[in-house]
Order: sequence, then structure tokens, then C-alpha cells
Amino acid sequence: MTEQNLQILLASRPVGRPSPDNFEFAQTPIPSPGEGQVLLKIRYLSLDPYMRGRMSAAKSYAASVEIGQVMEGGTVAEVLESRHPDYAAGDMVLSYSGWQAHALSDGTDLRKLDPQQAPVTTALGVLGMPGFTAYAGLLTLGQPKPGETVVVAAASGPVGATVGQIARIKGARAVGIAGGPDKCALVRDAFGFDVALDHRSPTFAEELQAACPDGIDVYFENVGGKVWDAVFPLLNTFARIPVCGLVAQYNSTGPFDGPDRLPILMRDVLTKSLTIRGFIQREFHAQRPAFYREMAQWIAEGRVKYQEDIVDGLESAPEAFIGMLEGRNFGKLIVQVS
Ligand SMILES: NC(=O)c1ccc[n+]([C@@H]2O[C@H](COP(=O)([O-])OP(=O)(O)OC[C@H]3O[C@@H](n4cnc5c(N)ncnc54)[C@H](OP(=O)(O)O)[C@@H]3O)[C@@H](O)[C@H]2O)c1
Repeated sequence: MTEQNLQILLASRPVGRPSPDNFEFAQTPIPSPGEGQVLLKIRYLSLDPYMRGRMSAAKSYAASVEIGQVMEGGTVAEVLESRHPDYAAGDMVLSYSGWQAHALSDGTDLRKLDPQQAPVTTALGVLGMPGFTAYAGLLTLGQPKPGETVVVAAASGPVGATVGQIARIKGARAVGIAGGPDKCALVRDAFGFDVALDHRSPTFAEELQAACPDGIDVYFENVGGKVWDAVFPLLNTFARIPVCGLVAQYNSTGPFDGPDRLPILMRDVLTKSLTIRGFIQREFHAQRPAFYREMAQWIAEGRVKYQEDIVDGLESAPEAFIGMLEGRNFGKLIVQVS
């Protein structure tokens, strides 16, 4: 029997929280590379919150995954066979081959990785898209200054952890928000944030106020929801709010709870001269070379640390992904495929 390729397809669109039924496992023959193509063996698959948006049919900044299509995702892969002049068997590459064990590529989505320079998994986290999101979003839009207070939630994940550590490098105070004591300990003790707060604490809003005696100058918005409610009254005049993600509402259905607070928001945007700016990381692609250079140096100097949560086997991807949206990951979530 010929060797088969395991793929995970989108079976149906979730309403609210995704469930394992939204995914379907398929076995297809491993394809052969044509002229100008490479055959990839996927080693690691990145699981990221944006994938929840791809499962939905709602209009967004990127097209949805169609029902029956392989789920999208960034991967680290080994070139198994090459009919492309720039790649040889054995090369390790960053690719965008999705939730499957093998894939073909014409090279346009590939970037060669040097396993001697850094563990290849970092290309999916601190030295990849999430790290770049933190770097470009914080430095370009947040613009932290020495002595200012920077607040970020999902602070044990790859974006939030990197935001706080860059804020510290720039001389700002970093206040991290995370779910539970273990994540808070990681944020404070390993990543060196000045303060780490548990958003599940019943006195979270009071604790945040106490942790920000001079108010908040930069709020890097990763989550929305109750964290935003607690942050909003503490924002200083001229505060910057890069809006990176709203993971607390990715599984929401229908209208949001509570009264319409838009007039209050607009009043403070005006009276406090707030800058609220959404962004998608790829708009800053011109900064990638500077990011790779600077981040690699910060990691080498021990000024930026990272935590990876590696789960075993492609079959584990749906459950791990569902868990991430609820905070069950402990650091950058990666699936070891082979
Ligand atoms: N704009 C862009 O280009 C871009 C690019 C990459 C990522 N992002 C966004 O950046 C954010 C962080 O991404 P990541 O990859 O670093 O994710 P992550 O932190 O590894 O995982 C998501 C985390 O969100 C937290 N969370 C979930 N529900 C929450 C809630 N109701 N309140 C507070 N926190 C909640 C959980 O952490 P706790 O257990 O700590 O609550 C969970 O671990 C996401 O919103 C993502 O969509 C945006």
C-alpha cells in the first residue's frame, strides 16, 4: 500500500465554541512534486487564535477556509524531495502548508531555516509571526517610552510575552495579565514583567488599578472583554492602544452583553486624546529584516525568553486548538507532527 498523507479538513463551521465535529480526518496519497515543486514533510504545526476566524464564513481581512478544505496554518517542514533549484532534500523551511503531514510547495511560501541558529520551532513563535506581531505592533503603534506603563493580556502567550519583554527593554514598566497562578508566575519570574495579574481574580479590576498607580500609557489589546473594561478607566491622556486581537470574543455568538458603551468610549477618545489603532501584522512586513536581527540578538543576550507548549501528533490538533481559545495552552502552542 502506498504511504498516505494525513490531513485535517474543516468539516463544518462552528457556532460559538468549536468542537471536534468541526474537523474531519482524511487520508490521501502523498503527492509527487512536479517541475519547480518540493515535497514537504511537516515537522511542526503552529496553532494560532486567527484560525478561529478562518473557520467562520464572516467577512474578515483574510478569506475563510472552505468546507472540505485543509485547515490553514504555518508549519516547519523538511524538504523530502526537491524539483526546485533553490531547495534540496533535508532543508528545513518555514511554510504555510496547513494541518497535514505532507504538502507540495512551489517555493513562494517558503523561508529556509538554519537549525544551528535557533531551534526551528521558534520560527512559529518568538522568531516568527507572533513575535513579529508583538515587535511591530508595540514599537510602531504603542511607542513605549522609559517610565511609562504598558499593559498586555494573554501575557504568557507568544504575542503578550514578547510585548512585555520589549516594553522592559525600552525602559517601560510591564504589567502582564494571564489566567491562573502558574501563568502569572511564568510572566513574572521567567519573562520579567514588573507585575502579573490573574484576570480570573474576583478583585481583578482593583488589583489592576493598584498595579498602575500612574495610569496606563500603552494598552496592547489582545483579548477585549472584561480585561478591556478594567483597563479603560485607567488610560492616561495620549494613551496608545494597538488593537491586535480580541480572543475573549472569538467564540461569541450574536450581540455582546451589557449596555452600549460606545458613547463613553468616544468621549474618552476625545477628551483623553486616545489613539486606538487596529492592525494586522503583515502590514508592517517591511520591518521583518530588522525584527529578525533585533529579536535574534535579544534572545541570544537572554533579554527575551520564550515558552513553548508542544503537543504530540497531528491528531491532537483540534483539541489543542479548542483548548487554546480557552487558555489551556502554556506558552506558544505547537503540534509536533513528525
Ligand atoms: N493582529 C495580528 O496581526 C495578530 C497576529 C497574531 C496574533 N494576534 C492576536 O494576538 C492575541 C494573542 O495571540 P497568541 O498567539 O499570543 O495567543 P495565546 O496567548 O497563545 O493564546 C490565547 C490566549 O488568550 C487568552 N484568553 C482566552 N480567552 C480569554 C479571556 N476571555 N480573557 C482573557 N484572556 C483570554 C488565554 O490566556 P489566559 O489563560 O492567560 O487567559 C489564551 O491562552 C490573539 O488575540 C490573536 O488573535 C493578532
